Amino acid sequence: MDEVVSKSVPAVLNGRQARAASARFRRLAALAAALALVLLSAIGCRVDMHVDPRYDPLSPSTFFPDGRSARPQVPGTVIHGQLRTDELRYTGKVNGVVSNEFPFPITRADLERGRERFNVNCSPCHDYTGSGHGMIVQRGFQAPPSYHIERLRNAPVGHFFDVITNGYGAMYSYASRVAPDDRWRIAAYIRALQLSQHATLNDVPADSRGQLTEKAQ
Ligand code: HEC
Repeated sequence: MDEVVSKSVPAVLNGRQARAASARFRRLAALAAALALVLLSAIGCRVDMHVDPRYDPLSPSTFFPDGRSARPQVPGTVIHGQLRTDELRYTGKVNGVVSNEFPFPITRADLERGRERFNVNCSPCHDYTGSGHGMIVQRGFQAPPSYHIERLRNAPVGHFFDVITNGYGAMYSYASRVAPDDRWRIAAYIRALQLSQHATLNDVPADSRGQLTEKAQ
């Protein structure tokens, strides 16, 4: 009986038991300290995020004399890549007059890009040849004039740039969908379309004319 009591409730701890107990206590204390640290740092984060020192868009501010938190742009600020001082390249005009000049030399690659952009953006109404019978027109949209009429054949290239940029009558602007240089490439391709419908034998290189007449016979 005595032995059982002394096993479950030791009256006095011997040396080994005492060391084990104090090690347990130290472990517990370390765990508690670590837990407190984690809790404290978690609370710290939360407070930081809640008291985020920023303004919501358009919220007022007492800091600036005009009472606005948003700062106006510095006068004369230009968005990177949008300093458009080249009048011809960005308006199709020179001194306010529609020009018949391209602002950069048109290469075969430019024409091919122009054809691709024309087919994507313009052919739904103007059709692939520019005669104005595109699918949207067949479904009831107002028919545009053919590119092959006298007036548009004589129109300066800057006119096509201008129509794409600003729209024309019932046709809306394509400025947001076709970049300025691509508008020139499309204008160049329209010139090619016009030539395709009005070319004469004299437009064919002399050494290739024979092939055409052979085929025609
Ligand atoms: C949704 C149909 C539609 C699309 C797409 C369209 N157009 Fe037009 N376009 C028209 C219509 C309609 C007119 C005639 C507008 C009028 O006279 O009121 C027109 C007129 C024109 C004219 C003749 C302007 C003049 O002097 O009479 C040109 C050039 C032209 N478009 C070029 C283009 C080019 C280039 C594109 C592609 C970037 C394009 N259009 C895309 C419908 C369209």
